[in-house]
Amino acid sequence: MAEVDLLRSLPRAKRNISQRGVAKTPEIIAASREFGELYFDGHRDYGYGGYRYDGRWVPVAKDIVSHFGLTPGMRVLDVGCAKGFLVKDFMIACPGIESYGLDISRYALMHCEPETVGRLHLGSADSLPFPDGSFDCVISLNTVHNFDRAGAIRALREIQRVSKGRSFAQVDSYRTPEQKELFESWVLTARFHDYPQGWIELFAEAGYLGDYYWTIVE
Ligand SMILES: C[S@@+](CC[C@H](N)C(=O)[O-])C[C@H]1O[C@@H](n2cnc3c(N)ncnc32)[C@H](O)[C@@H]1O
Repeated sequence: MAEVDLLRSLPRAKRNISQRGVAKTPEIIAASREFGELYFDGHRDYGYGGYRYDGRWVPVAKDIVSHFGLTPGMRVLDVGCAKGFLVKDFMIACPGIESYGLDISRYALMHCEPETVGRLHLGSADSLPFPDGSFDCVISLNTVHNFDRAGAIRALREIQRVSKGRSFAQVDSYRTPEQKELFESWVLTARFHDYPQGWIELFAEAGYLGDYYWTIVE
């Protein structure tokens, strides 16, 4: 297990945190948590405000391929793959890799990148429809925190179960009380979040042995 920033090459997100704080209502949170059209392609108040492919995941895919020493023919799974951007970009970063995804959003899968059609599964991260050890590498970015604590443990157990040993999870976190306050004013969909130490204890409880990193709102 190692803390490693595999998303370091992503451009810094431009977030209007104070505006979200005002706009956030129980109705907006409930609608966002449906992970439908509003969340991906509706107004910014509901989530992404337009989730479109722009190639920004290619360097991330290259960093993951290099970090785990992935080679053509290996099987990689992206849990919480949304529209399949990273699934597509693994195939660009490492031609010949067998790249797959899983997401709970039918909307996202129905609007996936054409190269990923047939590679994306509809399902929930806490009940992966794959046999033990099915994938050489399992990645899950900004998805596990959408469960409550017990669900996050179930999801990490599943990631551990279906991977042959290489895995990486990135989750919402904060390092200071100020960052925690900022995060709480901004968060829409996450149900469980904690300081890194809290997550590390949860990883141990889940028997998750993979690598990890934090999404921190600043
Ligand atoms: C913040 S988005 C992250 C998407 C992508 N991994 C990324 O980093 O850009 C969270 C994703 O998790 C998916 N999701 C939420 N709950 C899930 C669940 N129980 N099982 C699988 N996917 C889930 C959502 O549909 C959405 O695609």
